[in-house]
Amino acid sequence: MWHDFLTNQDLPIHKWTHYFPLYEDTFKKYQNRTCTILEIGCDQGGSMHLWKRYLGPYAQIVGLDINPACKAAEEEQINIEIGSQADPEVLNALINKYAPFDVVIDDGSHRMQDVETSFRHLFEHVTADGCYIVEDLHTAYWPPYGGGFGNKNSFIEFTKQVIDAIHIAYIQEKYDWDPFLLEVAKHTRAVRIADSMIIFEKGRTIRKHAPKRGRVSPDSNQLGELTFNSCAFS
Ligand SMILES: C[S@@+](CC[C@H](N)C(=O)[O-])C[C@H]1O[C@@H](n2cnc3c(N)ncnc32)[C@H](O)[C@@H]1O
Repeated sequence: MWHDFLTNQDLPIHKWTHYFPLYEDTFKKYQNRTCTILEIGCDQGGSMHLWKRYLGPYAQIVGLDINPACKAAEEEQINIEIGSQADPEVLNALINKYAPFDVVIDDGSHRMQDVETSFRHLFEHVTADGCYIVEDLHTAYWPPYGGGFGNKNSFIEFTKQVIDAIHIAYIQEKYDWDPFLLEVAKHTRAVRIADSMIIFEKGRTIRKHAPKRGRVSPDSNQLGELTFNSCAFS
């Protein structure tokens, strides 16, 4: 994918270079498999064409952009819908037509409210072992985008709450949890955080336990097991 980007003679692609190893990690398992990728924010369509070349003939690439001119990048395996990522009706129509999605990439307006609206609508329509990627999150620190350092409306702060919710089994204080955050935590195997990019990796909730396995020496503790049963994950 990196080589393809560096030598691209097709439609222009506009991405930060350090995203490429993360894209490859995420996309590798879908190569030559039936999969649906949704990218919010198409611009000239170069990245959608790159995903198609990388993923092969079974991939369906769907784009969403507010700019009707983006339609020009449509071709076989690539469909582009026009509308705003902040409009629930647009998102519902997208879901009805194409979901579930194996990977969602949000490279759209990068405005905090839009990013969160899209995430709240689309997350449950990502497959059980799929990924939701939000990129260019340096805007989470910029007031014109609805962000700011420590601003509770920023998607970085939202993600910090998901991290807390993932650890709910160990939290002893009472807290008025947003049920959506608990739902996200329940279906998230891991959250990868890089400069300006967050990847929510979905996975089935498994029993949380920490078995000790191995030979028992006479003076060691007995083999044991630590288990947490959280009401939120039951
Ligand atoms: C950074 S560009 C996308 C670049 C493209 N993904 C690439 O890698 O080459 C951002 C795109 O988001 C679109 N956009 C801005 N606001 C939007 C919104 N509210 N809903 C959907 N798309 C939006 C813009 O029209 C623009 O095409």
